[in-house]
Amino acid sequence: MRFVVTAGPTREYIDAVRFLSNPSTGRMGFAVARAARAAGHDVTLIAGPVSLKTPPGVTRIDVVSARDMLNAVRTVIARADVLVMTAAVADWRPACCATRKLKKSEMSDTLHLVRNPDILKSVRGPRVRVGFAAETGAPAAEAARKCREKGLDLVVGNDVTEPGSGFGTDTNRVTFVTPDGKVQRLPLMSKLAVARRIVSFVARRR
Ligand code: PMT
Repeated sequence: MRFVVTAGPTREYIDAVRFLSNPSTGRMGFAVARAARAAGHDVTLIAGPVSLKTPPGVTRIDVVSARDMLNAVRTVIARADVLVMTAAVADWRPACCATRKLKKSEMSDTLHLVRNPDILKSVRGPRVRVGFAAETGAPAAEAARKCREKGLDLVVGNDVTEPGSGFGTDTNRVTFVTPDGKVQRLPLMSKLAVARRIVSFVARRR
């Protein structure tokens, strides 16, 4: 199968040196790319700004902003069988961005934000669509809502406040939520082990 995996944060620039972002390191998404490739699949990894090495045999496209990520996904999705969105996409961006560094005296005390497109909602297909849900607290209910709203085959919920889970860790404790309402809570395990579970789920869905 042909996988498209997104990973890492997006950056939404205010001016040439300032941006809005989040703590995603890309580890979860790179683990999915590695596991999918190790299982023999063709993998395109669309990565926000992260400092990780590309897993062997994986095609990588680097992006910066949410709109860049959407364009990259649109470019490759027609050929894909599976989309796994682990990326922590910024939901808002500054209404305007200066191409040079603004002086403090030129900046206002309030930032005008506009909504970014929702990538999962914007792209049609492919056959299997997997999203993540980053929550502060038990993720099952929100994951179920996102599964319905975004028309997904699987949502992988994680509580980003829990030690060993979420941003920047090598491990994750996740909850799988499917459209039939089933909830499967997995124990704390390495992100690579979580990634293998996702790839197995996708293979069974085929
Ligand atoms: O990168 P790491 O440091 O390893 O951290 C991993 C992680 C915490 C980033 C990862 O496990 C995770 O939870 N990723 C999803 C983060 C997120 O943005 O969740 P969300 O609940 O805001 O978004 C729900 C889903 O919609 C996600 O699949 C997201 O990729 C997608 N989305 C969100 C916003 C947007 N504009 N477009 C989207 O497609």
